Amino acid sequence: MRAEIVLRRTKFEGVLTDSERLFTKNLVPSARVYGERLYDYRGEEYREWVPSRSKLAAYLKLGGKTFPFREGSKVLYLGAASGTTASHISDILAEGRVYCVEISPRSFRDLVAVCERRGNMVPILGDAARPEDYSLVMEDVDVVYQDVAQKNQVSMFLKNMRAFEAGDGMIAIKARSEDVARPPKEIFEEAERKLRREGLRVVENLPLDPLEKDHAMIVVSMK
Ligand SMILES: C[S@@+](CC[C@H](N)C(=O)[O-])C[C@H]1O[C@@H](n2cnc3c(N)ncnc32)[C@H](O)[C@@H]1O
Repeated sequence: MRAEIVLRRTKFEGVLTDSERLFTKNLVPSARVYGERLYDYRGEEYREWVPSRSKLAAYLKLGGKTFPFREGSKVLYLGAASGTTASHISDILAEGRVYCVEISPRSFRDLVAVCERRGNMVPILGDAARPEDYSLVMEDVDVVYQDVAQKNQVSMFLKNMRAFEAGDGMIAIKARSEDVARPPKEIFEEAERKLRREGLRVVENLPLDPLEKDHAMIVVSMK
């Protein structure tokens, strides 16, 4: 028996709360992805979504207002690592699909194990800077979500937004990956300017301190 909990919906589709913590409904009951706690609510199982392990959860905890994921969304996730955040997105889009690109073979092995249990997660071993390499196994998507912690994060993101005609996007910018010497605020503002110059509408640019030091989440829309 799991602990019972009382949850209520948030304004974000598929995300629930007990007033303190965030939860998503477990697509694969009894299965944990990263040691997260599981709870029962009204006969269904929910997974705690831990902000110190997921920049997307940190963004919501810190007051992020825009959340483009829907039950039927198609999502391209760049930098999926072993699938921690991607698995919560997979819970939310129970009727959709999340294509997960990861460059590290070590992380990819763990990612494949997560995807094998989750019918809506597709693992892709590849370099997010080269969308042409994986376009054959993809379809157009509604949302691009990127968290690669690498130089040239914005260019990589733009390439993928265009290649798969995404209408919405979220990019977790790690300032130190762009330039260790410059103040993070400058890097976040520069990223925002570049996105605007390329014709995207920047909806939010939210620093993730103190949950994720020197990171910001930038949310964009093509609409
Ligand atoms: C900060 S971790 C991502 C954590 C993950 N988003 C989560 O919340 O569960 C960054 C990941 O991006 C991957 N990565 C870095 N450069 C990449 C690239 N060019 N293409 C695809 N993945 C990349 C790294 O191997 C690493 O696993």
